[in-house]
Amino acid sequence: MRRVAWGITGGGQYLAESVKAMREVAARNRVCTFVSRAGEEVLRMYGLLDVLQEISRGGYLEEIFLESESGRSFPMTGRLMLGRFDMLLIAPATSNTVAKIACGISDTIVTNAAALAEKAEVPVLVLPTDLREVVTRAPYAVNREVCRGCEICPPQTACPQGAISGDDIRSIDLMLCDGCGTCLPLCSSGAIDAVRMNVRRRCIDLRNIEILRERGYVILESPEEIPEAVEGEVFKRNNMHGSE
Ligand SMILES: Cc1cc2nc3c(=O)[nH]c(=O)nc-3n(C[C@H](O)[C@H](O)[C@H](O)COP(=O)(O)O)c2cc1C
Repeated sequence: MRRVAWGITGGGQYLAESVKAMREVAARNRVCTFVSRAGEEVLRMYGLLDVLQEISRGGYLEEIFLESESGRSFPMTGRLMLGRFDMLLIAPATSNTVAKIACGISDTIVTNAAALAEKAEVPVLVLPTDLREVVTRAPYAVNREVCRGCEICPPQTACPQGAISGDDIRSIDLMLCDGCGTCLPLCSSGAIDAVRMNVRRRCIDLRNIEILRERGYVILESPEEIPEAVEGEVFKRNNMHGSE
């Protein structure tokens, strides 16, 4: 049984797939979850925030630490220095988080965990959102060209979070939306949808990912690699933090 520190950042790309993979990991290992502020928001938008409790079920080394509740110094990441974890997995890792780690910045709960893991020579596995060109699913939104501005809007009335507003064309406040999807079947014109977007790669992100790789971080290419990487010997084969 491995003791896994799992860092979640605000990436929609690979988020649902990472959660799915971590369910599998949690069935056989202990998973302690560290969530960046943006990670918390994006998890909520995709309706995945509550699912974390099925992965980190409470009890020692199976807690959920939200950056929004962890002050500015993130005391709980100190466990990485104390040898409490066998590894840190960051999945998904936004381009923001990858860039910060590449530059040695540690001002979020996840970048701070990475810095401490590196200093303590704890293996770090990273699943960047921006390694490959991908099609990603956005959170729910109102298509303004399809919305007919009905006088009584059933999705607006039914939304448990009160996230839909407007008197004419409606919109969804993503800071309130929890991705439950109640609204979806209620709009008679089908104006609510989760659009798919093509996300192109940026050179800067690829360069930052290479910097991490050179520093000994294990770079995962897809969420499907997570269980094998966590439970297998992948990280042992890499020269963790040894190249500087
Ligand atoms: C719905 C949604 C999805 C996002 N998906 C990504 C993503 O896949 N990759 C990325 O780099 N940023 C993404 N972002 C932007 C990040 O959340 C934002 O840059 C944030 O500051 C990252 O902070 P963090 O790295 O501390 O989690 C997304 C934002 C939203 C609202």
